[in-house]
Amino acid sequence: MRIEKTKLSMNAILDEKRQEGTIGFVPTMGALHEGHLSLVQRSVNENDYTVVSVFVNPTQFNNPEDLSTYPRTLEADVELLKEAGCDMVFAPSVKEMYPEPDHRTFDFGTLETVMEGEMRPGHFNGVGQIVSKLFDYVRPDHAYFGMKDFQQVAIIQRLVELLNLNVEIVPCDIIREEDGLAKSSRNLLLTENHRLAAPTIYKVLKESVALDKALTVEKTIQRTIAEINKNTLLEVEYFSIVNDRTLQPMNKWEDAERAVGCIAVQAGAVRLIDNIVFN
Ligand code: PAJ
Repeated sequence: MRIEKTKLSMNAILDEKRQEGTIGFVPTMGALHEGHLSLVQRSVNENDYTVVSVFVNPTQFNNPEDLSTYPRTLEADVELLKEAGCDMVFAPSVKEMYPEPDHRTFDFGTLETVMEGEMRPGHFNGVGQIVSKLFDYVRPDHAYFGMKDFQQVAIIQRLVELLNLNVEIVPCDIIREEDGLAKSSRNLLLTENHRLAAPTIYKVLKESVALDKALTVEKTIQRTIAEINKNTLLEVEYFSIVNDRTLQPMNKWEDAERAVGCIAVQAGAVRLIDNIVFN
């Protein structure tokens, strides 16, 4: 497995690999866990050459403390990627990715005025900046993204349309801990008690789906928030039930073929997100 730190050195190799077959790409911010690795495995299975980027992108953090405490574990990440069959790790410096400030703004329309976009101003613009640069450097045939960040997948699909890129976005299932908590690099930052409380989020989401739309959308939202907030270590920031294509909140179940319940919860100092499909 190669480890490259610059666009130039990476390009020399990828130019060759592009002639030989397909390139799969998995962008990450490191602190890798089985969620990330499931994306890598899928890329390895479906492509001739797999590139994984590890880069904590400053422009997508709207909270400086979140950026400074974000776990950085490159050595361990490299070992995990070797085992997963990754061919190349791209681990650039901030200077390499942003030799000068990036002033581009993307118009994601109403996809970014809700949920994470509303709560984290500028976040998706930063994601657009880094992913467009990475796509430009790697020029992958397929790029793999987790449904854990449901809104991010929609944003990336829109980015591909906006920039007219020739890459197929492959959404991948959410990987969970045994107790149901969605795997996340931020889980490492939970206190022991918050870690014990956190599985309540998915437990309540599943219960809300099991009601099988017996309650109205509004009542389902109220119930979900109330049940999670009963645990005093958890505080729901938002829970929205949205149309899976437009990401706009639904008033009635009939408003979408597929509804997705998206949640953000503050667990002490750590902000957790998750989602579930209502069938
Ligand atoms: P990061 O949070 O490191 O996640 C990298 C990829 O792994 C994303 O596509 C994310 O959805 C996926 N992922 C994380 N946890 C997962 C889980 N439990 N199950 C399945 N997939 C999971 O998302 C980012 O980084 C950044 O915004 C990035 C796209 C790299 C741009 O900086």
